[in-house]
Amino acid sequence: MDRIRLVGGNKLNGRIPISGAKNAALPLMIASLLTDDTLTLENVPHLADVEQLIRILGNHGVDYSVNGRREKQNEGYSRTINFTARNIVDTTAPYELVSKMRASFWVVGPLLARMGVAKVSLPGGCAIGTRPVDLFIEGLQALGARIDVENGYVVADARNRLTGNRYVFPKVSVGATHVLMMAASLARGETVLENAAREPEVVNLAECLNAMGARIEGAGSSTIHIQGVESLSGARHKVIPDRIETGTYAMAVAMAGGDVLLEGARADLLQTALDVIAQTGAEVLPTNSGIRIKRNGHAIQPVDVTTEPFPGFPTDLQAQFMGLMTKAEGRSHITETIFENRFMHVQELARLGAHITLSGQTATVEGVKTLKGAPVMATDLRASVSLVIAGLAAEGETIVNRVYHLDRGFERLEEKLSGCGAEIQRLSS
Ligand code: EPZ
Repeated sequence: MDRIRLVGGNKLNGRIPISGAKNAALPLMIASLLTDDTLTLENVPHLADVEQLIRILGNHGVDYSVNGRREKQNEGYSRTINFTARNIVDTTAPYELVSKMRASFWVVGPLLARMGVAKVSLPGGCAIGTRPVDLFIEGLQALGARIDVENGYVVADARNRLTGNRYVFPKVSVGATHVLMMAASLARGETVLENAAREPEVVNLAECLNAMGARIEGAGSSTIHIQGVESLSGARHKVIPDRIETGTYAMAVAMAGGDVLLEGARADLLQTALDVIAQTGAEVLPTNSGIRIKRNGHAIQPVDVTTEPFPGFPTDLQAQFMGLMTKAEGRSHITETIFENRFMHVQELARLGAHITLSGQTATVEGVKTLKGAPVMATDLRASVSLVIAGLAAEGETIVNRVYHLDRGFERLEEKLSGCGAEIQRLSS
């Protein structure tokens, strides 16, 4: 298993290209199931989760081909990929595949809408919480689907076609919003989704569906109107830049110090997080080509944050921010409201010398003057990268084990950071 070795202390200076967003690419790829034409997606990041979803879609009969490389001709950079679901050969998504990646459950929406049936394994719990699928079931039932849960599978039937309806989400869910938007696009009549997720990835998906011939209005607000159409066609669509990768590197610079241009990053996708980063004492300068982050000399100021659905502070940046706060000049409080078990990084950060106490859903971080490198490991993607951030400012060597978590969501992390002067490398085994 690969590991990452880093030695803290270097400032970061230079440019980091921001990749296409994993969490936008995944639902867009799944949308290819809605049409027998080709959906061409540009700027798809080269990540383990994307490769896994390609395998899952292949199981349903989706063909894919890669037809472009980004400026660097290397393997491993964002690509343009064609997805064609001419013949859906299987409407079952088995446990072996769905259990590896929760987002693959989302195929339930397009399969049901296009084929009238779908049998998709329950994803089960995961490291960050129980993450049930009740909202998906309730929402699809509101569109007229008959749904049974049998032997660990959601078995859905809408052979007489889904029918538009009003559905009010009892809780904001990104995935359930994606799925109901896709399903309603092929339903009979109008669907109104209220208390929908407003994340930029929802907007990116709605724009793609509209380019495919769907009639969706209001994505990005909490009420989305969808007029169902008979069929959807192919389209060409670009994945938005990854706001979580952007925020992660912004926090890395705020931690290590230096001056880095996050190329291609869009400030409007993470304004709340950028405001928080600015309050810590870093300079945040949006430019035409991206976002420039600078911190020279000033101490890191403590800031309290609470995670919230968009446009609030994202849960996917909570661990990284905690990494940054471990060296703040004072005490900060970090409250997690989206997932009930997203603090696994706390114990590992403590191995580097961080002082953090947990009480319910709030972590209190007492900033320390010095962190010291150590071997660490993490149980999820964002937790792993928080250890990298802390390691960048720790004295001596940090070894991050279980790098496959990082490979799920960060394209060429060690290359991007070492290109800016960090002492970081992958140790292959
Ligand atoms: C998406 O997950 C992201 N994943 C997550 O990113 C992100 O943390 C999350 O949204 C919140 O922003 C992808 O986009 C692939 P939710 P999703 O449904 O859609 C509860 C990362 O690190 N809920 O918005 O699965 C749920 O348990 C990942 O990249 C129900 O109760 O999240 C959670 O508490 C991790 N019932 C809350 O809603 C349901 O039926 C929000 O989850 C569905 C969700």
